[in-house]
Amino acid sequence: MTDSNDNKKIGAKGYILPALVVATSFLMIYTVVVIIPDMTMVKIKPTQYAMEYIEKDEKGNIIRDAKGMPVPNAAGRGRKVYVREGCLYCHSQFVRPQDRDFGSKVHAGDYANETPNVLGTSRTGPDLSNEGGKMPDAWHVGHLRSPRDYTPGSIMPSFSFLNEEDLLDLVAYLQSLGVKRMEDPANRHIYEAYYPEADDAFWKASELHKPNVDSATAANAGAGIFRQNCAVCHGTNGLGNGPNALAMAKKPANFTRPYYKAYSDKTWYYRVAEGVPGTRMPRWKLKLKPEQMWYLVAFLKTLPQDSGEIIAPYQTINDLDWEDQSALPQQLTDKFLQIGKQKAEGTYKANPGGPTAGSGGH
Ligand code: HEC
Ligand code: HEC
Repeated sequence: MTDSNDNKKIGAKGYILPALVVATSFLMIYTVVVIIPDMTMVKIKPTQYAMEYIEKDEKGNIIRDAKGMPVPNAAGRGRKVYVREGCLYCHSQFVRPQDRDFGSKVHAGDYANETPNVLGTSRTGPDLSNEGGKMPDAWHVGHLRSPRDYTPGSIMPSFSFLNEEDLLDLVAYLQSLGVKRMEDPANRHIYEAYYPEADDAFWKASELHKPNVDSATAANAGAGIFRQNCAVCHGTNGLGNGPNALAMAKKPANFTRPYYKAYSDKTWYYRVAEGVPGTRMPRWKLKLKPEQMWYLVAFLKTLPQDSGEIIAPYQTINDLDWEDQSALPQQLTDKFLQIGKQKAEGTYKANPGGPTAGSGGH
């Protein structure tokens, strides 16, 4: 009996030293790994562009649910759908100095309130950092349900299985991306719709890249870009009867109406670049380059402006014939031959004057 009592005493004492060693090593590791870095590392503070995905009341207080957790707003709920559906496997959300096409650059603090992060690593689809405000809500809903109806040949999967609520939350999230950057006056030259001070910069940039818009080459290039981006709404021949037009309240323009005879090159360019507010016509300057928009102008100018119809019978998606983007329609080839003849005879007039750019007034 005494034996075992002695053993216990020795045992209890024998553990003190190892326990101290373990505790001290743990403290040292904790100091080196956690405390020192925490004291010395630069803390990322939210920038003015950091988004908040939680609901707040008028006084700016966070609204909490019964368990004390912050309640997400529509964009915050949409962010969860974005993560759940794996959008980040194909879309990144960071714009580095070397990324030219995705709007203004991002900084670490822009992401301060975001967990988990959705930076992504792959750009199978375009970067979405500045997606907000690029496209109308209805475009997003349609595109998410059926990407190929909006971007021919898109490999983005259809998300038509999402219920209405998730879909609208997701659109709210997409529309939130980068909007604070867009609202910053410093970034106006990149984002803002037509405003008077932009005149110079806008037109200088466009003139720099202007091809000869009266050439068949430019019109031909434009024809391809038109089929890819515009035919879904405006129809393959610009009659305003693309398959999407059927479901639209404000119908796409029919470019073959005599009304468009009055359009100057600049008016066409301005309209393509800035879109038509209050309709589903996108602001293409956020997606296309000045050259591409000029090619479109060259193409639009070649359309016969002799149609009395506002909207021709609607096309179906099969009428769009995405494969054949090389050749101009016969009527245009004829028109170029005619222009060539007039030029030879010296009777050719490049463009009848017309309203100046921006006279649309908005
Ligand atoms: C398999 C890869 C893939 C996945 C997954 C994917 N996308 Fe895309 N996405 C693309 C591609 C490719 C494009 C470019 C073609 C197009 O516009 O459809 C694109 C385009 C887009 C655009 C248009 C961007 C612009 O400005 O033109 C948006 C918005 C978008 N995706 C949102 C989403 C959302 C939200 C999800 C998740 C619900 C998602 N995508 C999932 C590949 C993907
Ligand atoms: C999602 C559908 C949609 C797409 C895609 C689209 N448009 Fe439009 N477009 C419209 C609508 C709607 C209008 C507004 C018509 C109106 O104001 O009555 C419009 C108007 C226009 C106008 C102005 C016409 C005017 O009366 O001044 C031009 C120019 C134009 N589109 C060119 C294009 C070009 C070029 C593309 C492709 C790069 C394109 N659109 C793609 C729907 C679309």
